[in-house]
Amino acid sequence: MKDEFKNKIIEFDYDNILGRILFPSDVIQKKVKELGSSITADYKDKELVVICILRGAVIFLTDLIRNIRLPFSIDFISISSYGINQPDSGIVKLTKDLEETIYGKNVLIVEDIIDTGLTLSYLIRNLKSREPESIEICTLIDREVRRIADLKIKYCAFKLEEKYVVGYGLDYKQKYRNLKSIYELKTDAVKKDIEEMKSSLSI
Ligand code: IMP
Ligand code: MG
Repeated sequence: MKDEFKNKIIEFDYDNILGRILFPSDVIQKKVKELGSSITADYKDKELVVICILRGAVIFLTDLIRNIRLPFSIDFISISSYGINQPDSGIVKLTKDLEETIYGKNVLIVEDIIDTGLTLSYLIRNLKSREPESIEICTLIDREVRRIADLKIKYCAFKLEEKYVVGYGLDYKQKYRNLKSIYELKTDAVKKDIEEMKSSLSI
């Protein structure tokens, strides 16, 4: 299929806001397979626990873990932003903790998108205090241009500039997580909305 046609395929555009497809589903699947192979090689003979950050990373997690050919456990954690008017404050709270201990284990955090990195750096500080053997990050998208916190990202599927994206787990007002591809939003009319949303909703 020609690229120009591919970019016109729109899934369920409930609010007429979907723009271009940035990462089509077949490209995502290929990349996830590659990441799965790298992780399989890197964690051979190690006790691995894969931690999914709710809710955005769920779709990525389910595809990724089916491409890791090792025995390992999965666990879930949920964090949300405190600061209504301070989206970049990095003040976050744990709204759901892990079920299992990570003491002495090799932790792989699975995240949807890393923006300022403040959320993740808070989480890593918290997890480090539980004394795991190691902690690494696997993110679907790295938006490095907005990074504030210093983070070492071991596995990354895609890099992105200043664009707000939805689909494949990523939401706009809690919708569009179910889209198979990743889309940018159509206009900057939603820009203000996004900043408010980021500061007040669960991430
Ligand atoms: P930060 O790295 O602490 O700034 O926050 C990153 C979080 O903000 C991610 O885990 C997402 O939940 C959310 N987020 C940031 N950019 C986007 C986007 O483009 N689409 C959807 N969610 C986003
Ligand atoms: Mg998130």
